[in-house]
Amino acid sequence: MSDSSIKIVLKNVSKYFGKVCALNAVDIEFAPGTLTTLLGPSGCGKTTLLRLVSGLEPVSSGEIWFGDENVTDLSATRRDIGMVFQSYALFPHMSVGQNVGYGLGVLKTAPDETQERVREVLEMVDMDGYQNRYPDELSGGQQQRVAVARAMVLRPKVLLFDEPLSNIDSKLRRSMRDDIRRLQQGSKITSIYVTHDQAEALAVSDEILIMRKGAIEQQGPPQSLYHHPETAFVANFIGESNVVDAELLGEGKTRQLVLGDAEINIAQGKKTTRQNGPVKLSLRPEVIEIAPKEEISPQALSGLIVQSAYMGPVIEYSIETKVGILFTRAPAYAGQFQKKEEVCVRIRPEEIIIIPNA
Ligand SMILES: Nc1ncnc2c1ncn2[C@@H]1O[C@H](COP(=O)(O)OP(=O)(O)OP(=O)(O)O)[C@@H](O)[C@H]1O
Ligand SMILES: [Mg+2]
Repeated sequence: MSDSSIKIVLKNVSKYFGKVCALNAVDIEFAPGTLTTLLGPSGCGKTTLLRLVSGLEPVSSGEIWFGDENVTDLSATRRDIGMVFQSYALFPHMSVGQNVGYGLGVLKTAPDETQERVREVLEMVDMDGYQNRYPDELSGGQQQRVAVARAMVLRPKVLLFDEPLSNIDSKLRRSMRDDIRRLQQGSKITSIYVTHDQAEALAVSDEILIMRKGAIEQQGPPQSLYHHPETAFVANFIGESNVVDAELLGEGKTRQLVLGDAEINIAQGKKTTRQNGPVKLSLRPEVIEIAPKEEISPQALSGLIVQSAYMGPVIEYSIETKVGILFTRAPAYAGQFQKKEEVCVRIRPEEIIIIPNA
């Protein structure tokens, strides 16, 4: 963390548009120098949250703090933030150099220093040498790099990104997402990032915040959300998941999960404080293994392949079982199971997730 990295705190913040509640009494902290991604279905309040932090939109109630400064009543221009949006929003009649240097000009920075800082920040986004080009002479990815440079040149306390890569094709998106991550880690500017793309979220974030209907469903590092989702909603939203019903039995070291026609001993490796009774499980595709039906055992489910798709190195399967359709992948070198084939479905007990709040 650099000395100037600040914490962003929302205290009991709500936002109403008329009668629509876009954010409902949220309490959140964004740790200094980190990048947090907001993830959630359309309309859950991601852009609203970002606009409240930016000051472009006033809160209905609650407070927003940047470090030890209450910024709730400060306008956007006085909050010391940089923003990058989905549409690049460069000034079309200004060159790249003028676009990036615009904010410095407003602050009456000396021309020599402006030129040097513009060059420095363009170099960071791999666009040095493009100073005299105009936005319509650049590709979408290049325009977005310039937009990132323009947001960073003022060395703001806070960087806000609203789907910055969604207009960019997938190959370039990956390299730009790595660039944004590298720049953010280098500068240690506390950043909030909105995306619909969960692979992007897993790759760029220190923390992910899953939102649902104007509230925070769960916040944590990517790995913890992936491996320890607290609700079925989070399990479904992060990564691919099969959420199935099961029954927890037994006690102490001999506890079992009954799902469909399988009874899985979970004594090894899986501690749970859950009481016996119905539970919901999250099964990631990578914990489900298909074997020939002859290998069926009491610990395995019997299944029927209902869909298979060849994807190159892997084959994707949908398997009908007593607990519903399960989705999984298998390496193509392991051979292919045919549609309508009966199979044995094994689930690795140590990687079953028992969803706590379901
Ligand atoms: N200016 C506005 N006037 C009225 N309602 C609004 C306004 N802006 C947002 N809303 C409503 O607030 C809710 C949250 O919207 P928001 O734009 O924050 O969602 P989002 O999570 O960014 O969605 P998306 O993923 O589609 O961009 C929605 O129900 C939306 O219709
Ligand atoms: Mg939005």
